[in-house]
Amino acid sequence: MALFDCTCEATSGHARALSYETAHGTFRTPMFMPVGTSATVKGVTTDQLRELGAQVVLANTYHLAMRPGADLVEEAGGIHRFMNYDGPMLTDSGGFQVFSLADTVKLSDDGVTFKSIYDGSNIHWTPEENMVIQQKIGADIAMQLDQCAPYPAERAFVAKAVDYSSAWARRCLAAHTRPDQTLFGIVQGGMHLDLRLESIRRLREIEDESLAAGHQRFGGFGIGGYSVGEDHEVMFETLGAVARACPEDRPRYLMGVGNPTTLVRAVREGVDMFDCVLPTRTARMGTAFSSTGRMNMRNAKFARDFTPLDPACTCPTCQNYTRAYLRHLVKQNEMLGAMLLSVHNLHFLLDLMRRAREAVLADAYEDFYRAWMASPAAADY
Ligand code: GUN
Ligand code: ZN
Repeated sequence: MALFDCTCEATSGHARALSYETAHGTFRTPMFMPVGTSATVKGVTTDQLRELGAQVVLANTYHLAMRPGADLVEEAGGIHRFMNYDGPMLTDSGGFQVFSLADTVKLSDDGVTFKSIYDGSNIHWTPEENMVIQQKIGADIAMQLDQCAPYPAERAFVAKAVDYSSAWARRCLAAHTRPDQTLFGIVQGGMHLDLRLESIRRLREIEDESLAAGHQRFGGFGIGGYSVGEDHEVMFETLGAVARACPEDRPRYLMGVGNPTTLVRAVREGVDMFDCVLPTRTARMGTAFSSTGRMNMRNAKFARDFTPLDPACTCPTCQNYTRAYLRHLVKQNEMLGAMLLSVHNLHFLLDLMRRAREAVLADAYEDFYRAWMASPAAADY
């Protein structure tokens, strides 16, 4: 298998089971990617990530470029060596984080200018500079610089975000040269199907031009600009058509979505990859995912409950610790509480996607989907 080869092993309805080659191993979809924003999945070691069966780990260009800086990560031997993770990795471009975290963001065809939240300095990123930074960081997959429109937003504003994102996609693809890293394009267009299809049409045109010039194509397609405050049902009005308008021969990655029921539904629409801080962030707030729904571990009803967190779960936390102990840790703000719940919540989503994949391989995704939707957990997410 050559680098970045994508093989479709099975389909079931629109759901797909892909395998994808990277320089740090093969990953298989459907798949959830734990988020390690600052080169750490908060509270979880890389040994634990491997034991949990995490395949791809995500990091954020915005945070790493600010602290410790892309040059330092490069000097360490790249992100894999820096954080001691030798599996596939992906960096988000930082476009999204700039809009959600930075002050005084200014856009132009030439990129984005913003004030750093770390030290107030003014930073300008052209698409080319963003590619230099992501190539220094050295993940297996880089994402194009894009603009994610908020919700709700004027249609003209969303259309402008598609214009910027398309212009930046062209420049990112042309500037990206690292042979052991691939670049994903990102679809924008908010909740407007016609703008989304136009965004995809332009990405395809950009890569056709790139191929004609003897350069590369996109390694896959991010679907950005969802989960920005809209109701889930609003996303599903367009998600299926958007996913299936992306090229069939490469992964489709729904960015920033980690709600279990949404994952099960999105796979059914033809989405392959997901990332979200939800499992680890909810864990730090003391909440566990479970086969019966969310569990707030601060609840007094767990004070003398000496049973496992989720009896149906095979994760190390559920094998070794009781609800009463976890409640105690969370109530006392002990760091171990957040760590153990993070492991459990990550296992929950990783395992959900492993079972989704098995269902696709058995051409039984619709049964899997119906069983999930009928389960007590589904309504709670
Ligand atoms: N993460 C969640 N949504 C987005 C998006 O629209 N763009 C990028 N770059 N990252 C995201
Ligand atoms: Zn568990």
